[in-house]
Amino acid sequence: MLGDKITARAHTNIALVKYWGKENEELIIPANSSLSLTLDEFYTDTSVQFDETLQSDEVTLNDKTVEDIKITNFMNIIREKANIPYFARIESTNHVPTSAGLASSASAYAALSAAGSKAAGLNLSEKELSRLARRGSGSATRSIFGGFAAWNKGDDDETSYGYSIEDPVKMDINMIAIILDNQPKKISSRKGMKISIETSPYYNSWIEQTKADFRTISDAIKNNDFTTLGKTAELNAMRMHSLTLSSDPSYLYINSDSIEVINMVKELRENGIECYYTMDAGPNVKIICRNNNINAITKKLSSRFDENQIKVSGPGEGIKYL
Ligand code: DP6
Repeated sequence: MLGDKITARAHTNIALVKYWGKENEELIIPANSSLSLTLDEFYTDTSVQFDETLQSDEVTLNDKTVEDIKITNFMNIIREKANIPYFARIESTNHVPTSAGLASSASAYAALSAAGSKAAGLNLSEKELSRLARRGSGSATRSIFGGFAAWNKGDDDETSYGYSIEDPVKMDINMIAIILDNQPKKISSRKGMKISIETSPYYNSWIEQTKADFRTISDAIKNNDFTTLGKTAELNAMRMHSLTLSSDPSYLYINSDSIEVINMVKELRENGIECYYTMDAGPNVKIICRNNNINAITKKLSSRFDENQIKVSGPGEGIKYL
C-alpha cells in the first residue's frame, strides 16, 4: 500500500563484456550489449516510503543526508509511472565502497528501482524493473538478476532490458576484488564513456569486437568453459581501457598498483594457477578464478596488499525484498 516502507536488496555485478558508450544519453540506451556476473559480497539495501507531508525527497546514504539531483530525477520517473505526486523518504546502505570502480551505482539503482516501484504501488516484472533500473545507471539493468546476466542493447526504452543467462551459476567461478583506491573516481564512467564514443578513432572496432566477445562468453557459459570465459573477459576489459587511452583528451583508470596486480596475475598463470583480471572505471582489479585457487591467489596478493584490501566473492543472487 502507498505509505508502506519497502526495503529491497540488490547485489553489484562485474561485466565480463563491458558496456562503454551510450546511443541515447537520456534513456541510457547503450551502444553495445553487455554481460556480467552478479557478486554475493557487494550489495545495497534501500528502503523507500512515500509520505504526502514531505516537500521534497529525503535521501540518506550510509546514514548521511545527501542531495542528489540524479536520485530526484529517477524518483520522478517512478512518480510518473505510478501517477502519484508524493515525495519519499529513501534510506540506502551500501555494502560496496562508493565510486571505487566496484559498480556501486549498479546495486544502488537496482535496489532503488525495486523498493521505489513497489512503495509507489507498482507491481513490475523483472524485465520492467531492469528497464527502470537502466534509467538510473546502465549497469544497474543487469543487477536485477543473479548469476550470469546480460543487458540487451535494444534501441528504445522497451527493447533495452536485462535478462538472466544462468542463475544459479553452474561454473566454478569466483572474483577476488583488490581495492586499490576507494575514493570517488576523477572521471566518472558516464563522462569517460562519452569522451570515448565521441573521440576514440577505435570506437567502431570496439563495438564490432564486443559483439564477438558477447558470443564467445555466452558459449563459454553454456559449455562450462572457464578458460575461454576468463581469457575473453580479460581481453574485453583491456579493449575497453584502450578506448580511454585513445580518446582526446586521453585518460586512464589503470594506475601503478593496478599494473602490479596485473603482473601478479600473469605470474600466477605462468606458475599453473589459472586466473584472469578485469577492471572497470577505476584502478581496482578483479581477479576471476576457480575455488581451489583462491588461497594461492590471496596469499600472493597479501605479500603486497593489506588483507582488508582483498575481498573474495562468489556468484550472487538477484533482487529481493527484505
Ligand atoms: C566500466 O553503469 O556506471 O562498469 O550508465 O552512465 O551510470 P552510467 O554508467 P555505469 O557504467 C559502467 C561501466 C563499466 C562497465 C559495465 O559495468 O558494463
